[in-house]
Amino acid sequence: MATESVTLPGDVIDLVRQAHWITVFSGAGMSAESGVPTFRDAQTGLWERFDPAALATVEAWDDDPALVWGWYLWRMKLVGDAQPNPGHRAIAGLADHRTVMVVTQNVDDLHERAGSEVISHLHGSLFEPRCSVCAAPYHGTGTRLPAGFDIASYTEPPRIDPPACHECLSPVRPGVVWFGEPLPRDAWQRAEHTIAGSELVLVVGTSGIVYPAAELPERALANGTPVIEFNIDESALSPYVTLSVRTSAAVGLPALLDAVRG
Ligand code: APR
Repeated sequence: MATESVTLPGDVIDLVRQAHWITVFSGAGMSAESGVPTFRDAQTGLWERFDPAALATVEAWDDDPALVWGWYLWRMKLVGDAQPNPGHRAIAGLADHRTVMVVTQNVDDLHERAGSEVISHLHGSLFEPRCSVCAAPYHGTGTRLPAGFDIASYTEPPRIDPPACHECLSPVRPGVVWFGEPLPRDAWQRAEHTIAGSELVLVVGTSGIVYPAAELPERALANGTPVIEFNIDESALSPYVTLSVRTSAAVGLPALLDAVRG
């Protein structure tokens, strides 16, 4: 299958060549070509009738922790079965030529598996479950779908009881930020610091509609830092960024790396 390619505008290449400290700010579109559905893609399969924005809430957890835990175990499996795409690998490769700091809204581990160091998971991580009461990190069993689990045998979303915290026996919850919850303070502060020190911000695959995360590229622009967007569609940030490239993460970012390598 021929690999799609894109010709990047000269201004984009110049900005990346001139910058030495680059922040990559990624959203769900970064992982779309790895087969991980974006947050606002229609839910598929058993969760088709569930709105992810309704499931990723404290109310849904309080109402039916086993449904929410089963959904997150399924999402962890989807991510575990996925592979970093050429966009993830290009960001990791860029770090051989520039100082690259990754700040992501994504809860998957695909940047890390491609070789990037992630400075901040603004919305937490699928792979850092914690106690829903005492917040102790949980490293025990029960954080993977049972061996031989066959989603095809289900006609309803699997309800799987969450494990109990080893410290206080309360239910363990996903280590992600739910709608309405505050972002982890340390993740937010690291992201603020990284954006403030950047000479260039690459925004990849985000609709730019969820705050406070979407405030970060806006701060960069207010600081006079150039912001280049890679998105297959117009986003809420497109009218404001320095340059917006209509390309996908897995096509545009390898082209950017090739240009830097010159
Ligand atoms: N390459 C680049 N961009 C893409 C690709 C792709 N292959 N596929 C989709 N996109 C773009 C879409 O055009 C859209 O602008 O990625 C963006 C995905 O937007 P969302 O689904 O809203 O995801 P995101 O912006 O990350 O959402 C932010 O909100 O839903 C909460 O916590 C959740 O972290 C998430 C946050």
